[in-house]
Amino acid sequence: MSRRIFVAALIAASLGATAAQATGDPQNGSALFTACMGCHGIDGYRNAYPSFRVPKLGGQKVDYIVAALQAYKAGTRSHATMTAQAASLSDQDMQDIAAFVQSQGEPASGAVASAAGRDKAAVCAACHGEGGISSAPSWPNLAGQHRDYLEHTINQYRSKHRQDPVMQGQVMALTDADVRELAAYYAAQPGLFATHLTN
Ligand code: HEC
Ligand code: HEC
Repeated sequence: MSRRIFVAALIAASLGATAAQATGDPQNGSALFTACMGCHGIDGYRNAYPSFRVPKLGGQKVDYIVAALQAYKAGTRSHATMTAQAASLSDQDMQDIAAFVQSQGEPASGAVASAAGRDKAAVCAACHGEGGISSAPSWPNLAGQHRDYLEHTINQYRSKHRQDPVMQGQVMALTDADVRELAAYYAAQPGLFATHLTN
């Protein structure tokens, strides 16, 4: 390999690494995640009241995972269990957890399924991507997320129980039927998965 190509390859590799890697320690993250497995590691595990399946974290954006944990800890996003879970986590713990989740792999990819709701999802694509794989680290992936969780959390934005200036602006004009269709559309896409301990 010529020196110039070699240097270009090195730069590309290190750019790729900084763009895609969390700064945490996945091994410590794996140890911390044992506290989370009982819910996020079981396919289809349900939250009791209200009833919806707990969100899949595998394949989720690392910056978004950290932001969500910070929001629960700060009380700006409220859910009794998750507030309790996040309360004792330090900033570094959150980075480590995000690195562990990332070590489980990328979201599944495949052709965007032409499911019902595709037309309505067109306005969301600017941030969340056509098939629900978003284009920025702090915008969550929606592809393959549980349908009932998506409905639940969009309705939380609509009722302002979950606050975010960007998302509030997106959901206020939606009807209940729109929410059901959008949730079904993203749930039908290849993408997120339940997290499993690998060692
Ligand atoms: C008893 C079940 C339970 C346990 C244990 C639990 N979670 Fe959760 N988690 C949930 C539920 C339910 C939600 C959705 C809450 C909501 O509506 O905001 C959630 C939401 C999340 C979210 C936000 C996901 C998203 O898409 O916005 C993250 C990140 C998360 N949990 C990480 C963790 C981590 C890390 C741990 C362990 C330290 C943990 N959870 C332990 C049930 C649990
Ligand atoms: C301008 C960019 C933008 C657009 C357009 C947008 N979103 Fe979002 N979305 C975000 C951001 C940023 C967040 C994270 C907000 C937070 O932390 O609560 C988010 C969060 C979400 C979540 C929560 C994911 C989770 O795991 O909890 C859902 C569901 C969602 N958006 C659905 C939609 C739908 C449906 C549309 C179209 C009607 C849409 N969004 C349009 C930026 C956008």
